[in-house]
Amino acid sequence: MNIAIIGSGYVGLTTGACFSELGNKVICVDNDLNKVDSLKKGSIPIYEPGLSELITRNIKNKRLQFSSSIKDAVKSCEVIFITVGTPALDNGEADLTGIEKVAAAIAVNMDGYRLIVEKSTVPVETGDWVRHTISAHIKKKVKFDVASNPEFLREGQAISDFMKPDRIVIGVESKKAKDLLEELYKPFNATLVVTNIKSAELIKHASNAFLAAKISFINSVSRICDQVGADVEEVAKGMGLDKRIGVSFLKAGLGYGGSCFPKDLDAFVTISEKLGYDFKLLKSVRKVNEEQLGFIFKKIKDSLWIIKDKTIGVLGLAFKPNTDDIRNSPAIGLIKMLQDEGAAIKAYDPQAMKKSKEFLSGVTFCPDAYSAARGSDCLLIATEWDEFKELDFARIKKLLKRPMVIDGRNLYEPKQMLKLGFSYVSVGRKSV
Ligand code: UDX
Repeated sequence: MNIAIIGSGYVGLTTGACFSELGNKVICVDNDLNKVDSLKKGSIPIYEPGLSELITRNIKNKRLQFSSSIKDAVKSCEVIFITVGTPALDNGEADLTGIEKVAAAIAVNMDGYRLIVEKSTVPVETGDWVRHTISAHIKKKVKFDVASNPEFLREGQAISDFMKPDRIVIGVESKKAKDLLEELYKPFNATLVVTNIKSAELIKHASNAFLAAKISFINSVSRICDQVGADVEEVAKGMGLDKRIGVSFLKAGLGYGGSCFPKDLDAFVTISEKLGYDFKLLKSVRKVNEEQLGFIFKKIKDSLWIIKDKTIGVLGLAFKPNTDDIRNSPAIGLIKMLQDEGAAIKAYDPQAMKKSKEFLSGVTFCPDAYSAARGSDCLLIATEWDEFKELDFARIKKLLKRPMVIDGRNLYEPKQMLKLGFSYVSVGRKSV
């Protein structure tokens, strides 16, 4: 199939690269000319394992192109995916300006039947607006369909999530749209959920909100564990082995961040309010998440007593491992809280240092974990990168001013840390 992807961010690039890998001819469009130029040379603006190789391979075999022209893409492709950003406005609502602009630009360039698929995360009823917008701007009397096909990929494992999805959700209102999308997704051999557009839109918001709720739930349980000396890791395991609950997304820590959960929760709460429902449950999920940083901050304060003029070595800046994304990163939030209290920060992250330098001032960026530990009053684990699981703690102990580790991600065994001579504080587990 000839496929156009409008918006070459995380979702757009992964979608374009994977569809082209499966033999389709794909044009990825973006209005950022510099980005398009670098993409044409195979240089991608984000760190995502495997994506660069996939893009380079498919540019070479001429199945993947990049362009800044919506016109060219619409002229040559029957199926057009919209994957532009839907950031949060100040009132929490999703900003759908990009979606509207793209829908209008697609409409004026349509010279035959087109299927326009919304893949960006959008509030329920956006599909209706996309249809109205296209109808209002259409120039030639041609038929079109709108569909919703939400994307569930996670940063850091985007390609495997895309290629081996748990399910593919297709929201359609016509047989033609259904047939086209079923044909496109046939090689995936995955469970298809075929429904109407509004249900598909809601599946995405409800899924992200539910996952965020799991995280806030376990973080709340961690507070109780802390009080009574129970172990939240054991509690999560014991709960998660019940198939109805499941073990994933029950990892207590600094709370959720990233470009999706915080924004999507805000948008879901706001659209619910607009529709006359006060989604109290999700407001609490959000509040618990916001309070989690304060809880970890207090742990640091309780351990160090005075934070002012102390040096804290921070391991991890990205909002989660295997990405260089620092949007809504709890690590960055915590660093700012510590700086406000007068601490000096020495930080290291395997991928996110470049992006962090634009957002953090007064931080000493270190070439590795050991340099961050050198001369610090304690070591704070803020992102659970695999390489932090393998640190040489005998070496770390010699480098730190005092042997103290505050682990915001529960990476290590408390007994082991005690044996190594550390004062060790983690989340929802007894400090040693
Ligand atoms: C999420 C959804 O998982 C994905 O389906 C959607 O398409 C986009 O949003 P992503 O933002 O890449 O993906 O990250 P994810 O792996 O879901 O983690 C989100 C946040 O939750 C991270 O900050 C992570 O550290 C945190 N998290 C996750 C926990 O704190 N505990 C957990 O058990 C799981």
